[in-house]
Amino acid sequence: MRVVAFSGSARKDGNTARMVREVFTELDKAGVETELVQLAGKEIRGCQACYLCKKNKDQRCSVTDDIVNECIEKMLGADAILLASPTYFADVSTEIKALIDRAGMVSRMNDDMLRRKLGAAISVARRGGSIHAFDSLNHFFLIGQMIVVGSSYWNIGFGGDKGEVEKDEEAMSVMRTLGINIAWLLEQIHGSS
Ligand SMILES: Cc1cc2nc3c(=O)[nH]c(=O)nc-3n(C[C@H](O)[C@H](O)[C@H](O)COP(=O)(O)O)c2cc1C
Repeated sequence: MRVVAFSGSARKDGNTARMVREVFTELDKAGVETELVQLAGKEIRGCQACYLCKKNKDQRCSVTDDIVNECIEKMLGADAILLASPTYFADVSTEIKALIDRAGMVSRMNDDMLRRKLGAAISVARRGGSIHAFDSLNHFFLIGQMIVVGSSYWNIGFGGDKGEVEKDEEAMSVMRTLGINIAWLLEQIHGSS
């Protein structure tokens, strides 16, 4: 079993990545393979609305000179996909929105190719707007026939400076429960990893 997570922060190894890693601690214990892809510093652009994905139906984006097709391949190879974002102006980061628009459109134009994979959203904010960002991330899963996994609270954390979210003990606990629930559901669906 394999879980891939995308952190949309423009800051590498910040609070968003920290939250994902807390989910991974439980997945690791359950023997689930994990990978964190950090979009920080990588080339990624928005959808150019060429609709070539509708014509080509080859599970790829027609824009080939950035990281998106690599991300799509990782999504296709995973049993569960995590989308994690810092809150920027009460919404998701530009980087993760570009991934949502492009991978989401390719999936739609290819018979919902990510259907029945598990999905979970995570967002972090210094103070406000994380629920809106969390909701934005969930739109990706819920339009594509994916199965959204929950935890003991919404998957949000508070922290401004790098690493500060670690002090949000409830968020860390919610992340661990999310990992336990993903591992449990993967086992129910696919048998032991
Ligand atoms: C462009 C920008 C916009 C931000 N907007 C918000 C916001 O609307 N609400 C908030 O609470 N924090 C906001 N923040 C703070 C980040 O959400 C916060 O520092 C978060 O922990 C960053 O995650 P990271 O460490 O993974 O980069 C903003 C930060 C940046 C750079």
